[in-house]
Amino acid sequence: MRFFHRRRDWLRAGLTLAIAAAAVGVGLYRHGYVAVPRGSVPTCDGRYHLADLPVEDRVEALLGCMTQDEKIGQMALVEKNSIHWKPDIFRYSLGALLSGSGAKPDDNTPKGWRGMLEDFQSYARRSRLGIPLLYGVDAVHGNTNVLGATVFPHSIGLGASRDADLVRRIGAATAQELAATGVHWNFSPTVDVVKDTRWGRTFETFGSDTQLVSQLGVAYLEGLQSLALSGAPVIGTAKHYLGTGAMDWGTSGNPDFKVDQGVTTVDEATLRRVHLPPFKAAVDAGVSSVMVGHTTWNGEELAASRYLLTDVLKGELGFRGFVVSDWYGVYEIPGGEYRAAVTAINAGVDMVMLPYDYKSFIGYVRRAVAEGEVSTERLDDAVRRILRAKLSAGLFDSQPPAEALESQFGSAEHRQLAREAVQKSLVLLEDGGMLPLPKDLGRIVVAGSSAHNLGRQSGGWTVEWQGIDGNWIPGTTILDGIRQAVASTTAVEYDAAGSFTSAVGKADVGIAVVGEAPYAEGWGDSEHPALTSEDLQAIARVRAASKKTLVIVVSGRPLDMPRSARGDASVAAWLPGTEGGGVADVLFGDYPFTGKLPLAWPLR
Ligand code: BGC
Repeated sequence: MRFFHRRRDWLRAGLTLAIAAAAVGVGLYRHGYVAVPRGSVPTCDGRYHLADLPVEDRVEALLGCMTQDEKIGQMALVEKNSIHWKPDIFRYSLGALLSGSGAKPDDNTPKGWRGMLEDFQSYARRSRLGIPLLYGVDAVHGNTNVLGATVFPHSIGLGASRDADLVRRIGAATAQELAATGVHWNFSPTVDVVKDTRWGRTFETFGSDTQLVSQLGVAYLEGLQSLALSGAPVIGTAKHYLGTGAMDWGTSGNPDFKVDQGVTTVDEATLRRVHLPPFKAAVDAGVSSVMVGHTTWNGEELAASRYLLTDVLKGELGFRGFVVSDWYGVYEIPGGEYRAAVTAINAGVDMVMLPYDYKSFIGYVRRAVAEGEVSTERLDDAVRRILRAKLSAGLFDSQPPAEALESQFGSAEHRQLAREAVQKSLVLLEDGGMLPLPKDLGRIVVAGSSAHNLGRQSGGWTVEWQGIDGNWIPGTTILDGIRQAVASTTAVEYDAAGSFTSAVGKADVGIAVVGEAPYAEGWGDSEHPALTSEDLQAIARVRAASKKTLVIVVSGRPLDMPRSARGDASVAAWLPGTEGGGVADVLFGDYPFTGKLPLAWPLR
């Protein structure tokens, strides 16, 4: 239920009206530090504050109040560390801020985030119309920028679960952990369909099956965006439009990358058959924003494609939310910054993730409108879409206090949900007749780089953009989970490198937990995803020290696993997040193996 106080709304409406009347009366109105000449400030009756008016009426009421400059400001999305002078927020009527992954307040707790957000919003409230900021983060597997958040398995593991109800509940839990920090916009879900698992963003997707990606993308959005399910108004983003999972190896426009930010060469029929349906499903499910990717298709940057953004997405698919561009993506359109901004806006980009220099962007759009290169109709269309989303995120209305949601943040209930997701995401690659393991074995040896490391379990987009190393966030490692699962009489011996004493003979079971170090985006592009020599050595040592060997692979994608890198049994655990206990639940038979590969994993 949305909480609003009618009396307060009326008071605000009256106040706005009085201020607007006074402004017109004196002929000069200062909003922020920008003087606006007589006649150019529309009068405003403040009706947009009335929570019980239909959203569309509120949007039109507010749009009618806005000056051209106020509209242009709404189209800017700025990285929070690029705001060097906070009054710029009202001076330019900025529409939105974001925390790039890893950009957090010094006090990286829900309280610290709420304080930061409240500070930014207090500047937005000082603008003439008091339009609140949208604040966006990448909560791609929980609200994981924040210390103590529940870290859910990355989407590739959820793809393996094939469980829409589970994904819906994770979406709702993520909305609660976001709202507890005062954030109402999530750059998730990723509904790209992966074709080449060498791509460093494979783990952010639900896999390579169009239907599965569509189904789980919708389930996530239902949980995330439904006030009824989460009790916390949050909007989502379907990304990265379009064909981003099909970029070709070696085509990246970024010299440090190989696939990411590259070129998609599939023909239009394939684009429509394989890659468009998840976006159509997200639009039908009411997604509030769509992020256009860094991809090039048909010789054109996606952000410049009027055909794909306006004709297909907004026209054919009937998308009524707003299109946001990706990090600095618009300026990759050739022709210089001014031309790039004009091209993107006319193509259908409504909000530009700049993310740094908002002043020049605002100057470009002012000039473009003055010179008739961007029409006032296009400007109104973009702003109308942004305002609609802001209203959907409940930003204009009184909210349940974010503190009230704090008990949900990293709660036992959410961690149990994450553990359930881990159980359901494990895939048995090879059985070897040894699973499930009895809990009362005499001796188990455990080794490998990912056995006792929450950072490696959690992957990229965890506290930092490229993830972390070690056990300094709350959670249960896979080793901890094994220790907690076995009988008190079972000895569990751990050495990351696999050096075990042979004096006591072979262990009943050896478990090597191996895998990838965390990465994000193009930094994870890899020609040959495989285990390191250290992990291969750990597997060999575990094999030598045990009667039966189990290999658990902690990775964001299939790795090359020759016979010598496998155990009697091998399990794909993906990137399970902080609740490693879910792995032991399945190994020791408290939960059966139900996960299925969400993409091909050839074993040789
Ligand atoms: C990524 C997006 C992300 C954005 C904001 C970009 O680099 O491609 O997926 O949402 O950064 O952090």
